[in-house]
Amino acid sequence: MSSATSPVNSKLRNVMTEKTHKTIEQAEQEGKYIRKVRSFVKREGRLTKGQERALTDHWQNMGLNHSDGLIDVQALFGNDNPVVLEIGFGMGKSLVEMAKAAPELNFIGIEVHKPGVGACISLAVEQEVSNLKVYEHDAIEILADCIADNSLNTVQLFFPDPWHKKKHHKRRIVQADFVESIRNKLKVGGVFHMATDWENYAECMLEDMQNSPGYENLSETNDYVPRPDSRPLTKFENRGQRLGHGVWDLQFKKS
Ligand SMILES: C[S@@+](CC[C@H](N)C(=O)[O-])C[C@H]1O[C@@H](n2cnc3c(N)ncnc32)[C@H](O)[C@@H]1O
Repeated sequence: MSSATSPVNSKLRNVMTEKTHKTIEQAEQEGKYIRKVRSFVKREGRLTKGQERALTDHWQNMGLNHSDGLIDVQALFGNDNPVVLEIGFGMGKSLVEMAKAAPELNFIGIEVHKPGVGACISLAVEQEVSNLKVYEHDAIEILADCIADNSLNTVQLFFPDPWHKKKHHKRRIVQADFVESIRNKLKVGGVFHMATDWENYAECMLEDMQNSPGYENLSETNDYVPRPDSRPLTKFENRGQRLGHGVWDLQFKKS
């Protein structure tokens, strides 16, 4: 879990990539767009031999590159099965488990932590999972530059970094503009599924979703849904359970 503060860029000009059809990286290089805050601090953890081998041997088959721009799902997977996108998959254990259990779906994972990406690819290869592709990149930029509007059936965000301190809440990935961009990427009827073990974050997620037009809460009580069986226990949930934390699941449908 991240806790350190990374530098906050002071220069922010209002040039959005989707409007100019540039990538954020290109715009940044030209000094036209600098993101204010990021939801992560890049940890340069060492790769194990297995993770390194998985990245070297299988990136070509399983890896997706931000620089390649908008993806063509049909070309990528060789079918037009529904697409599940997971943001911040950590070490990828639960993502691989879900992909293995649902070969009728296509899975795309995004994670910034390289050892996690290596671990995920390694496990997918071991489990002979072929319906999964992964990015090692900031999900905000992937959403802006690589994912077509109205193309996703499900977006999953499980146990995002909670950024406990109030002064760091601006670093939380779930913000009003983020939930709006997720809505743009979902097909009508597609579902945004979030889970957190941090009650204050759950309350903020709920507020952002309720204030965002075009979403319907799938909760019968108009707040949280019971933990769906389809969501395997993730590493962070496991840890939270050991510490006696509660877990809050939110599911909203694009209407
Ligand atoms: C607390 S961990 C949870 C990992 C996993 N979902 C689980 O439940 O075990 C949050 C993960 O989100 C990743 N992350 C945070 N911001 C991200 C972003 N903007 N794009 C991609 N990954 C991100 C972090 O690197 C970290 O691995």
